Amino acid sequence: MGSGAASFAASAPATLRECAAQKNLLVGTAGSSKQLTDPNVADLISKQANILVAENAMKWQHIHPSQDRFDFTGGDSLLRFASEHRQAVRGHNLCWHNQLPVWFQERATSSNAADLLRSHIAAVAGRYAGRIQSWDVVNEAVRVEDGRPDGLRNSIWLRLLGPQYLEIAFRAAFEADPHALLTYNDYDLEQDSPLHARKRRSVLQLLTSLRERDIPIHALGLQSHLKAGATIPDWSNLLRFLEQVEKLKLQIFITELDVDDSKLPAPAAQRDRVVGALYEDYLKHVLKRDSVKAILTWGISDAGTWLNSFNPRKDSLPQRPLPFDGELQPKPAFFAMRSAILQCRSRHADQLKAVSTFLRRS
Ligand code: G3I
Repeated sequence: MGSGAASFAASAPATLRECAAQKNLLVGTAGSSKQLTDPNVADLISKQANILVAENAMKWQHIHPSQDRFDFTGGDSLLRFASEHRQAVRGHNLCWHNQLPVWFQERATSSNAADLLRSHIAAVAGRYAGRIQSWDVVNEAVRVEDGRPDGLRNSIWLRLLGPQYLEIAFRAAFEADPHALLTYNDYDLEQDSPLHARKRRSVLQLLTSLRERDIPIHALGLQSHLKAGATIPDWSNLLRFLEQVEKLKLQIFITELDVDDSKLPAPAAQRDRVVGALYEDYLKHVLKRDSVKAILTWGISDAGTWLNSFNPRKDSLPQRPLPFDGELQPKPAFFAMRSAILQCRSRHADQLKAVSTFLRRS
């Protein structure tokens, strides 16, 4: 190693959190109570992340288990952890077709659904008001395969309330927490396939319609559940889409980044290399857009990734989708994140200033 490289290595910030601070970026991970109470994982998360999101704890099923009872245990402990470690928090989520409690599915009707949605949002976003950097207000409302001209998913919310449920949710969230950046969050928007292209068009149409009607929305969440394959995708259509989203004056957050390796051969080192290369290429491209202000991975270590139950590998080996392995050692994906962050343009300092403002409130 030449002396230039050696001095770079000596002076380069070690953690993702330190790299992100240099660029006024948010970087972080989804977490669960189990992870945050494991001392080794907690230590890693406190060092690497300046923003957290609950993987499940703030979803209806967990936070609103019966009609007249809320359970804020998981959400509260995540906020406590974040406040102790001076981390921002994303809220996930206020309105989704999935992980709804049984009571809702049994009792919701077209006549009471709007009130149920409004009162849920008032209670949950109200409890954490002023302490959430951004809320995923509506999650995954678009599914082009359902065949509607507007691309909306034929979800329980759509069936009960029609497309107005989105407006109800965003307005209720704004009323409950006027400080949070209100986000529409979705998947399958990133890669270069006809399905992703159609979904980008429908999401853009939805965001445009929300903005035209002055509905309070501030950001798009690109979930970024990527799939590793033989080649690295071409991101030019994604970048054009991001430019159009920016024209609507929306920020962009990478909210659930991970890489499904189920199509890759078994050797771990080979998978880690391909996964890392995809992280690096994706992040370098999206970070060219200054509107991209946050990068969160869907978990910090390969232990416990949702992909092992959702899309297990045919050879039964555990997937390796995240920046740290099951022993909490950094993988090529970690170095890829660091390198992409260190190479991007610095974001405006206002963003981290805004975060310190709500950290003071928590
Ligand atoms: O809480 C129960 C537990 O009591 C029970 O013993 C156990 C047995 O299976 O299940 C537990 O619930 C599981 C829950 O995760 C909590 O671990 C559910 O079965 C399981 O379906 C649920 O999966 C979550 C999934 O959302 C639900 O759709 C994943 O953990 C979570 O990572 C995943 O996250 C979603 C985002 O919210 C939205 N974007 C996609 C992303 C990945 O699917």
